[in-house]
Amino acid sequence: MASGIERAKEALGGAVPPPWIVRAAFRARAAIGALHARMVPGFSLVLERTFGMVDTKALYCAVDLRIPDLLARGPLTSTQIAAASGADPDAVERLLRFLVMRGFFKHRRGAYANNAATDRLREDHPYSFRDWVLFFGSEWNARIWNEMPSRVRTGRPAAETALGMPFFQYLSEENPDAGRAFAGAMASGSRLQGILFGETIGLEDVRHLCDIGGGSGSVLAHLLALHPQMHGTVLDLPSLEADARVVFEDAGVAERATFVGGDFFDAVPGGCDLYVLFAVVHDWDDERCALILSNIRRVMAPGGRIMVIEAVIPPHDSEHFLKTTDMLMLVLGDGGRERTDSEFAALWTRAGLRLANRTMLPSTFEVFELVPAG
Ligand SMILES: C[S@@+](CC[C@H](N)C(=O)[O-])C[C@H]1O[C@@H](n2cnc3c(N)ncnc32)[C@H](O)[C@@H]1O
Repeated sequence: MASGIERAKEALGGAVPPPWIVRAAFRARAAIGALHARMVPGFSLVLERTFGMVDTKALYCAVDLRIPDLLARGPLTSTQIAAASGADPDAVERLLRFLVMRGFFKHRRGAYANNAATDRLREDHPYSFRDWVLFFGSEWNARIWNEMPSRVRTGRPAAETALGMPFFQYLSEENPDAGRAFAGAMASGSRLQGILFGETIGLEDVRHLCDIGGGSGSVLAHLLALHPQMHGTVLDLPSLEADARVVFEDAGVAERATFVGGDFFDAVPGGCDLYVLFAVVHDWDDERCALILSNIRRVMAPGGRIMVIEAVIPPHDSEHFLKTTDMLMLVLGDGGRERTDSEFAALWTRAGLRLANRTMLPSTFEVFELVPAG
């Protein structure tokens, strides 16, 4: 198996820079973004931003036609792509012209090839982001976004209005295909976070790690493979159990990994010395986050720790991707939100926890290490 750092390089597609360099690069990019926005008259900016949906749908089309998979074997003309995918040649050429303009695919001497971004849209890429595109461009996700105005006006959960039931219930009980697409999308991001977490945080003394809301288990599988002394448990909705078992088997860690299907608002597995929550806290309001965290606090092993892995909304007005994902939190769940530093601090207090340590991953996500207060 590749070492952790080799996997991190492979997963990121290059070197793993220290967090301060990544933050500086983000700040520079935000400044260029602000300048870019000011360089056009107001109405142009309105038009450009209103067309944002075109990116979502054009990428979805390319993935739906499996263009990144077709190009894995080498460059093709749009006519060849259209023939291989059974699509309209003129539409494929125009779709690719648009996507090349947006930074996707390479176009040379009349043929198209994958670039670093579209390579990540191949189904067989070990760190594929294909499921994100399929989730975001799906018909059921579009229905949720259609309810954004009613969410902002009334405060009623948009997903529940659109789908007729809470978002996670829809995924686990009503539409298993959507559930699989969403879990796959989450795994694309968490596979990277899990690798960076495993490289950054020392886990040598952990006996039993529990990944709360750990989805189909890709983070746990990676951490168990890195640490042969460790056992692990994923707690998530029962519908993800079969997928998690495959992930554990594939990673060769099935003997040390357990999946518990359950509801983290009711109870969590007890006695573990480390509980991790990757991108779970941002799905819920403070009251429900405090319930999950208090459920853990009550049953964790003496001397145990909780690590919450989330990014923090910075206190400035310039561009930051978290303000965009906050819009996703606004529509997906009931009370989900990205948080500022002071909002996180209030949450820890409410859950009876104390911040013992804080570490930034190269992704600029923070690992908040929490212990029982007092
Ligand atoms: C945003 S996803 C994050 C998944 C994973 N930690 C990751 O980073 O990819 C939230 C997870 O919480 C799970 N979840 C939602 N409601 C739950 C509940 N009541 N009890 C247990 N798990 C739940 C979902 O199934 C999903 O896997």
